[in-house]
Amino acid sequence: MSSPWIESLRSVALFVPDLAKAEDFYTRTWNLEVAHRDDDTLYLRGTGSNTYLLALHRGGDVPQLRQVTLRARSRAALDAIQERVTAAGGTILAAPHELSRDPAGGIGLKFKDPHGRVFQVVHDDARRTEDAPVADRPIRLTHVVLNSHAVDETKAFLEQALGFRLADRTGIMAFMNCDSDHHTIAIGISDNDALNHIAFLMPDFESVMRGGGRMKDAGFPIQWGPGRHGPGNNLFNYFIDPFGVVIEYTAEVEQVDDSYESHGPEHWKWPPGRVDQWGISPPPGATLKEAQKRIFFAPNS
Ligand SMILES: [Fe+2]
Repeated sequence: MSSPWIESLRSVALFVPDLAKAEDFYTRTWNLEVAHRDDDTLYLRGTGSNTYLLALHRGGDVPQLRQVTLRARSRAALDAIQERVTAAGGTILAAPHELSRDPAGGIGLKFKDPHGRVFQVVHDDARRTEDAPVADRPIRLTHVVLNSHAVDETKAFLEQALGFRLADRTGIMAFMNCDSDHHTIAIGISDNDALNHIAFLMPDFESVMRGGGRMKDAGFPIQWGPGRHGPGNNLFNYFIDPFGVVIEYTAEVEQVDDSYESHGPEHWKWPPGRVDQWGISPPPGATLKEAQKRIFFAPNS
């Protein structure tokens, strides 16, 4: 169950109103490290091989999503995707070109889907030597969830343009797969096209739990969790960052291959009163749900 062209989620880029505040939060509390910085952008990394996971650009008062960056399996994959994006109704924003101002470099293709979601696909970007996992520190991103007012259209675009497959579908989400992580992009079934959340992979169960305590101590209470999801079988704790972006610590994401059997909403129904496998955490509250509707793609990113 893998895309012929996309191997992974590399990074997410956001415009945020205050880079100093972002650095303080994302290094001291969320536990990333500064990978690189210039006057207008802060690049943050985990312990994994990606040069960075988050690019935070200086923006206006309202945070915005600039782009979601995926890594291609080959240079040829960029050309294949370029053709397929157009055929699937998307718009090419930049044909494959050298990313000379990006600290990870490489060749990048940039496009938007028919609803304005901006994706960058990179090949041959710089990688770092992976550290041994560090307790309480994220390794990499594992998924991003993007809401869609037209889930079937978004699903079709991800399938046709990027070779994603449907891993599972529930009443509220379509989980899209490109490699061994159960899902890399999930589509939140919604009435809007906002960013739902960004998930950071922690090395283990303990780090997800301790992360919940660290965030709580810093004034960022757990908005939903701890729990274990159905599709993906991953652990979760959800939070809202200082700018209103919903972020998740997760671990133990189910690894899948071509033998994975996809299921629909009937299969993934919870018993009454449950919204996760354990049943110890209350369901997500209004604060989290509102935050999951507020961050949109910048129109001219
Ligand atoms: Fe998630």
